[in-house]
Amino acid sequence: MNPWRVVVTPGDGIGPDVIASGAEVLDHAARSFGLRVVQTERPLGGASIDRFGVPCTDEVVQDALDADAVLLGAVGGPRWDSPYVQTTPEEGVLRLRKSLGLYANVRPVRVHDALLGCSPLRPEVARGTDLVILRELIGGLYFGQPKEMRQIDGEPGAVDTLVYRRSEVERIVRRAFQWAAGRRRRVLSVDKFNVLVTGRFWRGVATEVAAEYPHVEFRSMLADAFAAALVARPTEWDVVVTENTFGDFLSDEAGMFTGSLGMLPSASLGDDGRALYEPVHGSAPDIAGQGIANPLATILSVAMLFRHTFDQPQAADAIEAAVERTLDDGFRTRDIFEEGTRLVDTTSMTAAVIARLEGPAAG
Ligand SMILES: NC(=O)c1ccc[n+]([C@@H]2O[C@H](COP(=O)([O-])OP(=O)(O)OC[C@H]3O[C@@H](n4cnc5c(N)ncnc54)[C@H](O)[C@@H]3O)[C@@H](O)[C@H]2O)c1
Repeated sequence: MNPWRVVVTPGDGIGPDVIASGAEVLDHAARSFGLRVVQTERPLGGASIDRFGVPCTDEVVQDALDADAVLLGAVGGPRWDSPYVQTTPEEGVLRLRKSLGLYANVRPVRVHDALLGCSPLRPEVARGTDLVILRELIGGLYFGQPKEMRQIDGEPGAVDTLVYRRSEVERIVRRAFQWAAGRRRRVLSVDKFNVLVTGRFWRGVATEVAAEYPHVEFRSMLADAFAAALVARPTEWDVVVTENTFGDFLSDEAGMFTGSLGMLPSASLGDDGRALYEPVHGSAPDIAGQGIANPLATILSVAMLFRHTFDQPQAADAIEAAVERTLDDGFRTRDIFEEGTRLVDTTSMTAAVIARLEGPAAG
């Protein structure tokens, strides 16, 4: 059988550190479970701007299209930050997502019992939080045209456009129902029905799609009300589906329940099995180059890769269990450190996970 092909884009800042961890776990788990996987490293973001003048080259897009999956670190940093630049590292990620048609960003948020003390929520509120946010990723305000700086009524201004087509809403909402079928069978659709025309449209389409899934409980909620309810009652939610901008904010809000952005994996999925896996966090310039980044978000993204691209749920479970045991055994990077636990760097945390990664059960 041909090997699985994974394009690996470390990116900038802490990206290369956490990707080194993810790649090591990927290799180890693939060997343990008898899979052949070829990883090919490619530049993206600021690293690509420095070498090629663009944040994502045509070759990288083609390599990603030819591969079975992409594993991405994070891009960006102060070196490439200026309101007047021609291009930004983040545009490289947007191009890749768009080129691969990755419309569904899946962000699981699970609060680990061992990290309850790190959560900004009270333990009795955070305990048991286990939800998934499905964010529409390649439509809406971040991509709508026109999108430009222009003169408005004789003075400088800027325009972004929020646009959604029926097919775009339908496919992400369907994904949410399919995802919920493997979980607690509850879908919440989040919109701004009361002030946005696109919100009213979204709600109408979501309600129609919901009728196709009578065995899954469905409701809709306003984005602002949900932002409050999410923090007040985080255990109430199962699968939450929403448009691009709200999903961006809400998933970061929910992410903090886990104690650190460094704990949050994600998958971005399209049709025909296309997929990109990445930690939710950015390139963390404040800790870049120190070897102290938390690699668990990337390692958990690798678990998602095993589950959803390689169709190896046992290997995915094994990686997740190894992370759980590592936390239970008290290993902590600085972002999740508490008194009485063991402070380790990125490399030692990765080694601790690998040491706890068990292969397939014998027999
Ligand atoms: N997909 C991506 O590549 C992506 C996503 C978000 C932000 N960014 C970019 O990253 C840069 C920094 O953005 P930001 O500071 O707003 O967000 P960030 O996620 O990089 O950092 C926010 C805070 O969380 C901490 N943090 C993040 N990941 C961590 C980890 N793995 N271990 C320990 N601590 C961690 C950082 O130290 C920082 O204090 C910006 O250029 C932004 O555009 C890129």
